[in-house]
Amino acid sequence: MNERWRDAVRTVHGVESKYKRLVKAIAADIESSALASGARLPPQREVATDLAISVQTVTNAYKELERQGLIRCEVGRGSFVAARVTETMSKYMLDTAEREVIDFSIARIVHTPEHDAMWRKVCATLATIDDQPWIRACRPIAGLEHHRQAGAAWLASLNMPANPETLLITNGAAHGIFLALASFVGPGDTVLCESLTDHGVIGSANVLGFTLKGLDIDECGIRPEHFEEMCDSERVSALVCTPTLNNPTVALMPDSRRRAIARIAERYGVYVIEDDVYGALPAKTQTPIASLIPELSFYCTSMTKSVLTGLRIGYLTMPRRLALRAESVLRVSSWAATSPMAEVATRWIMDGTAQHLVAVQRERLTTRQAMVREVLSAREPSAGLIGVAEGAGLLASGPRDARVAQARNCRDIAGSLPRGRRRTAERGALMRCRRGQRSHLQSCA
Ligand SMILES: Cc1ncc(COP(=O)(O)O)c(C=O)c1O
Repeated sequence: MNERWRDAVRTVHGVESKYKRLVKAIAADIESSALASGARLPPQREVATDLAISVQTVTNAYKELERQGLIRCEVGRGSFVAARVTETMSKYMLDTAEREVIDFSIARIVHTPEHDAMWRKVCATLATIDDQPWIRACRPIAGLEHHRQAGAAWLASLNMPANPETLLITNGAAHGIFLALASFVGPGDTVLCESLTDHGVIGSANVLGFTLKGLDIDECGIRPEHFEEMCDSERVSALVCTPTLNNPTVALMPDSRRRAIARIAERYGVYVIEDDVYGALPAKTQTPIASLIPELSFYCTSMTKSVLTGLRIGYLTMPRRLALRAESVLRVSSWAATSPMAEVATRWIMDGTAQHLVAVQRERLTTRQAMVREVLSAREPSAGLIGVAEGAGLLASGPRDARVAQARNCRDIAGSLPRGRRRTAERGALMRCRRGQRSHLQSCA
């Protein structure tokens, strides 16, 4: 048995209990890689005998290590050193350095000279203002009052009534989802999501230690029957979902299904965390599920996918009883959102720039979608995917993996066309991608 563990339980440090000392010793071994990722820990009874301590002390130590995410205990198999967060996260970390290869992996808006012009304009205006509380104030943590009011107005335009008192300014939507999850779920909780979902949710599960389970989806998103089945068969804490332009499928959930999901959530008391990061993009504003069950929902969106990529400002609403909890998580995670950025978002919402840039986005995407439709219409297999995208009124706004698939389709299809059409298709769509404009089909226009 490990000498360090023995020393740890023998050496008294103030009033620190034995099990905590054992936790520290095992954690140190994991930290130093003396216990490698995946290594099996000795059985609890063996450790107890060897260290001359009770089995309960060892059990408590293993439980605490599991709670901290350092080990995982599998019934009938034993306890194993968990993969490090960085190891498990790395496969979801898509933000690698820019390369020659065209990167289809990140969903981003079409950036135009107008975006640059608007940014320069707001920066010039800010430079002339004497009194700038957004660079001085470090409270309120939830965000300055006028920032929250603008956020509530933005949410209202997305059919999500919001009270500035239960609205937090966040650094983007991913941050908002994390805050929502960290407010009430942890190890031992089960959270449901679409079986194909944004990698951020998977990363949150790794960090917070909850169990993430995927629900069956079709071209309209989550199948309510499966949601109900899961709620019926196990204790579900929350559902995280993206009903509008799911990433990666681009599915747009129809109204009737949103209502069905809301009813089930209500019946089983399951919180819904709605990610509406693409909510501003469809021509017709949808009904957020969260607006149907506000007392059981978190709703988040941001500026990054509809207004400006670098404007990492998001808005998160929640039931009043969880507002303080969510604000506490915001405080420990980043104190508050970046206030000067929130000021830009506020000005743009109030003077119509944000709405204008969304309209620019919609128009660009419609053009690109028409182009992609023309290229892909030559072949049947892509019809389903394109059909979904067309339902949303968008294609290229869409989510990463769907676009990757579409781009691959696009390339395959072009390769299979008769020579004349192939040249047209390639000239019209694919070659421009290859010329090095970063990104996806958005860049094919
Ligand atoms: C569905 C979904 N939610 C959230 C995010 C992250 O949004 P933000 O950049 O505002 O953090 C993305 C990014 O691609 C996404 O696709």
